[in-house]
Amino acid sequence: MQDTESYIGKHKTELDTPALLIDLDKMEVNIQKMADYFSNVRAELRPHLKTHKTPIIAHKQIAAGAIGITCAKLGEAEAVIHAGIRDVLIANQIVGTQKIARLINLAKHSEIMVAVDNADNVQAISEAATAKGVTIRVLVEVNIGMDRCGVEPGQPTLALARQICESPNLKFEGLMGYEGHTVAKPNRSERETATREAMQRLIEAKHFLEKHGIEVLIMSGGGTGTFDITGSILEMTEIQAGSYIFMDSTYRNVEGVGERFDNALSVLATVVSRPEQDRIIVDAGLKVLTKEFGIPQPIGLPGLEMTGLSEEHGKMMIFNGHVHLKPGDKLEILPTHCCTTVNLHDRYYGIRNEIVESVWEISARGRSQ
Ligand SMILES: Cc1ncc(COP(=O)(O)O)c(C=O)c1O
Repeated sequence: MQDTESYIGKHKTELDTPALLIDLDKMEVNIQKMADYFSNVRAELRPHLKTHKTPIIAHKQIAAGAIGITCAKLGEAEAVIHAGIRDVLIANQIVGTQKIARLINLAKHSEIMVAVDNADNVQAISEAATAKGVTIRVLVEVNIGMDRCGVEPGQPTLALARQICESPNLKFEGLMGYEGHTVAKPNRSERETATREAMQRLIEAKHFLEKHGIEVLIMSGGGTGTFDITGSILEMTEIQAGSYIFMDSTYRNVEGVGERFDNALSVLATVVSRPEQDRIIVDAGLKVLTKEFGIPQPIGLPGLEMTGLSEEHGKMMIFNGHVHLKPGDKLEILPTHCCTTVNLHDRYYGIRNEIVESVWEISARGRSQ
């Protein structure tokens, strides 16, 4: 394996490629801007690890004021808890004996919290926690319109919350509702209307529980596209935004968010071939870039467009005569989806003023179990 540390102090174009770069100044400004927003509202920030998957970055978010970390997977939670972060929400269902055993193990070293939407799962977690003498903090996930996980508001939410309150070694903390169907709506006012409607379902669920004598301490939801909509709702206590730290060209087009946070992530690639005057091939394909939100594009090279990705090749077409790239030259590509792109890489190269300042292992990449 190459000695990646030896790159520190070198110009970024000396890095071997493909390489995942963070513009550290931009990332730090993004962290600070989000922290500044949350210093002025009641809700607090619990940033999502799924974007950067790296404990050292999670520690920076906490140092800037975040109350803890949100994870999608147990493997991510293990990575951050082993790195000394204690207040972790798994905003997802942890199902099956093996996974519940890992959850219980984590509870010995942290204040882990998990989402549930199913009575059998609640019983299984309670039994496992009781057997090991730990207490698990639980949020009921409510379906607020995304139609992914989550029980319906009203009676189904009440029934599950009651079951949790009555189950040994579980602590009912509150509700979670993720408005994933609204976060990326480009138009701000449409996004705001849809988000407020969605969050109203969560608020009504909270009031229904309180009417029946169940205290709801935590109300969790929100993403990068809605941080200042959901985050401004008085009933909300925690926001789970993730992508704001790096951004990508998809969030760039989300009005009110794209202007606020800067793109801090790029993939450095090398031109490996220019078989025709109007076609170049780079060494960045589907194994280092993702395209579910569209084909990523080169940065700062007008007239050059990426038109296709195969496993290890990116195909680019030149639409004007002013692109003078030749084999061996390097260029940067802006991801269309930062979270899935990061998951393809082993490490980040942190760049400041064009120079490699740090190399960080992406320790939770691929931790999908
Ligand atoms: C449960 C949950 N919370 C929050 C988010 C917010 O992520 P982002 O800030 O990247 O939009 C996501 C995104 O997938 C999610 O699944």
